[in-house]
Amino acid sequence: MKKLIIAVMLVAFAFTVAYAADSVTYDSKKGAVTFNHKDHADKLGCEACHEGTPAKIEIDKNAAHGAACKDCHKEKGGPTKCNDCHKK
Ligand code: HEC
Ligand code: HEC
Ligand code: HEC
Repeated sequence: MKKLIIAVMLVAFAFTVAYAADSVTYDSKKGAVTFNHKDHADKLGCEACHEGTPAKIEIDKNAAHGAACKDCHKEKGGPTKCNDCHKK
């Protein structure tokens, strides 16, 4: 457990431009959607989603089902089915 904590701390430390949380969960009636910010950032790089200095991106239903999430999933092979994103 201690090793795991240290490993996690080292990884966190390596990211000097760290963001507030590794993942964000959006609640919705259809089921909560967990966006793993860190996994996405590691795989795609900040520029895939942020222009200039990264800042908060507002996510609502339209954004999520379009340009902010699903469009890229269609293009790059992420989840596009309702229940792949929405978990009850
Ligand atoms: C797949 C798209 C995506 C990628 C890649 C990505 N981000 Fe984000 N980022 C988001 C979204 C969406 C939000 C808004 C999260 C929320 O609702 O709080 C966000 C929020 C942020 C914020 C605002 C603070 C916060 O945590 O809410 C910062 C700072 C940030 N990102 C930095 C980065 C950095 C640095 C990288 C690269 C290492 C990165 N992001 C990569 C989508 C992305
Ligand atoms: C720029 C491209 C891009 C954007 C934007 C993006 N994703 Fe993804 N996402 C991917 C890719 C590629 C995968 C598949 C990664 C893999 O399987 O290795 C993925 C996987 C996922 C997964 C399944 C794996 C996991 O992390 O649980 C979820 C859920 C997910 N994305 C949610 C979101 C949400 C919610 C947003 C918007 C806030 C978003 N994504 C924005 C590219 C993107
Ligand atoms: C790429 C991931 C993703 C996929 C695929 C997806 N959604 Fe969503 N959906 C989201 C996110 C993120 C939100 C935004 C939640 C919020 O506003 O905070 C959302 C919001 C919603 C909402 C609004 C819920 C509320 O409480 O306001 C509904 C309804 C919904 N989605 C239904 C669907 C249906 C039906 C499908 C399949 C046709 C689908 N979604 C596919 C990520 C996804």
